[in-house]
Amino acid sequence: MQKYVIAIDGPAASGKSTTARQLAKALEYVYIDTGAMYRACGLDALNKGIRLDDLPALQQMLAQISINIIYRPEGNRIILNGEDVSQRIREADITRLSSEIAIIGIVRTRMVELQREMGSQGGVIMDGRDIGTVVFPHADFKFYMVADVKERALRRWKEYQAKGENTSLEAIRQELIWRDKNDSSRAISPLKKADDAYEINTTNMSIPQQVDYLLKIIEGANAH
Ligand code: DC
Repeated sequence: MQKYVIAIDGPAASGKSTTARQLAKALEYVYIDTGAMYRACGLDALNKGIRLDDLPALQQMLAQISINIIYRPEGNRIILNGEDVSQRIREADITRLSSEIAIIGIVRTRMVELQREMGSQGGVIMDGRDIGTVVFPHADFKFYMVADVKERALRRWKEYQAKGENTSLEAIRQELIWRDKNDSSRAISPLKKADDAYEINTTNMSIPQQVDYLLKIIEGANAH
């Protein structure tokens, strides 16, 4: 089977990353979570005490930044400047900071450059907000996943509970609403469905159903 580039976009907690990871496993592809890269940028700025309006300092940070995504079927490891930050970047302060730093043009330019390099060989599934619109506008397959905010908040709440973190469902819902707005209203590469993307509403779908749905489309196209 040909080594495709598969783009999956959509708002936070719409089912992208779990589906993308399992799809990558099924197809023996590499999975790249681009949200983790913006999270790593936010953490780097925080660690270095760089304010988001200090563009020269951010530029210098971006020139030196090293982000490695070590692909693992059970969950990627994210290495920032030699340090494993996989856990740290999932914390609430970095979640918010990642959405704030993702507005900045020089940050996006650098991340898109890295993402195109990572996907240049094909055989890759990349998820994010602008993969089908900006990073790989000619991707072989584009999917746009959506789900009701109540359901998305519940999914995140369950993830937090499983990690032993106690956050209220309402606080999670409010944070998701804030991030949806911030990610879709920015001037550069906002969260948006590509015209030629398949839209999937995952509100009432299980993860296996989502994976199956995408696989059928990909395998169906391959059969022609
Ligand atoms: O997918 P995620 O929740 O880990 O992403 C964290 C933030 O990064 C998200 O709120 C917006 C930003 N992001 C982006 O702007 N473009 C991408 N391709 C991926 C993420």
